[in-house]
Amino acid sequence: MAPQKTFYIETFGCQMNVHDSEKVIGTLEQQGYARVETEDAADLILYNTCSIRDKAEQKVFHRLNDYKALYKQGKRFGVLGCVAQQEGERIFERAPFVSLVSGSASYRRLPEMLVQIEQGATRVTGLDDRQTSETFETEFTARSNPHRGYITIIEGCDKFCAYCVVPYTRGKERSRRSASVLAEARRMADSGFTEIQLLGQNVNSYRDPDRLCTFAELLAAVGQVPGIRRVRFTTSHPRDFTRDIVDAIDAVPSLCDHVHLPVQSGSSRVLHLMAREYTRDQYLERIAWIKAAKRPISMTTDIIAGFPGETPQDFEATIDLLSEVQYDGVFAFKYSPRPNTPSLSMPDSVPEEEKSRRLQILLDRQREIQRVNYEKHLGQVLETMVEGLNPARAQIIGRTSQNKTLNFTTSQPIAPAPGVYLPVRVTKAFPNSLVGEAVVQ
Ligand code: SAH
Ligand code: SF4
Ligand code: F3S
Repeated sequence: MAPQKTFYIETFGCQMNVHDSEKVIGTLEQQGYARVETEDAADLILYNTCSIRDKAEQKVFHRLNDYKALYKQGKRFGVLGCVAQQEGERIFERAPFVSLVSGSASYRRLPEMLVQIEQGATRVTGLDDRQTSETFETEFTARSNPHRGYITIIEGCDKFCAYCVVPYTRGKERSRRSASVLAEARRMADSGFTEIQLLGQNVNSYRDPDRLCTFAELLAAVGQVPGIRRVRFTTSHPRDFTRDIVDAIDAVPSLCDHVHLPVQSGSSRVLHLMAREYTRDQYLERIAWIKAAKRPISMTTDIIAGFPGETPQDFEATIDLLSEVQYDGVFAFKYSPRPNTPSLSMPDSVPEEEKSRRLQILLDRQREIQRVNYEKHLGQVLETMVEGLNPARAQIIGRTSQNKTLNFTTSQPIAPAPGVYLPVRVTKAFPNSLVGEAVVQ
């Protein structure tokens, strides 16, 4: 019997990449490969890469450099994901020991690409499928968590924001059939999953190819699958955020009390330069819908500090927006110039130190807001899903419907297992997490 083929995979980037890797792992296992935990033990080493900011991209090339010595031992390397699609065949020039370069739009063809590598091909590519209308669906998904799992409902992006590589790396926007999404949700519920996270670069730009339902209707339908207790969705684009999404959250208890709605800037002038297709007022109108919901819905966002041409007044408008919305979390980054993007050629008069200064002001302000927001939970009893144990602190790690970390203790002799839901009373609050005590039922 031939020795089993082995592979190692490391994933960088967003949840879409994390879930793509789960599907890639499932596909490789189906092709007879066994997954191993170290590069040393693997025949095939895969990096699923991210190029959203320069730092993310550099990390990949550092990693490739670190391991090029392994090539001499007869190992194969593959670069997948956004850096693969962005750099394409240039990767073979920069790292000649790489034999596979594939963007996410070509993963459907992974089995044939693997065969080519096994037959000794040294420059196998999957780079030509960005205009495809096909999605990557497989029943062989190696989900890393047995209780909560992802379902991609829409791939790619057609928005072309001025700073962003994603439309170039992930290709054209294409939605998956609602029947296929629901079938996967039911299969997951049948095998014990209770939480589903619907994924897409712009999840709410979803358009059912069969025109059977809207995004809000799909959300509600997934939330009504028997056995599913929590449904999350990310990322929502403000332009396509419609009021019926809030109505669905109000109507279906399993839809979580959380919306991630990236704003990028609080200045309409900068939003226009970014080609975001909404104004500050339109964004705030959507926030008002969310705030008017029957349940308190937690809101989080993404912000870019120091976009080319951002004036002190523009930045002030972003700080002011933080106070107005009162987010529970902000992912803020300094603007990073990216290849192919229109903002690369925009005059950028904001010096690097000033960008860093603005980012720090923003993070400090937001921390204050979160300190106050999180303290509002003191004394509340929140339904918490157990994620694991923190033996060092003798705490159980949990997560609330609002997606907040709630670490707690219990008077019961046996700690609840991961995946269990139970009520926890909040006794302490930090700007990023809560602490509590399980309520004896
Ligand atoms: N589709 C989502 C976000 C995708 S990328 C949306 O439109 O909101 C995730 C986040 O990375 C973005 O929200 C943005 O804040 C950040 N980002 C993207 N390109 C960037 C760049 N060139 N520099 C800094 N941050 C960037
Ligand atoms: Fe990038 Fe804009 Fe598309 Fe989001 S909507 S992935 S920021 S181009
Ligand atoms: Fe990165 Fe690609 Fe996701 S650039 S953030 S891995 S879509």
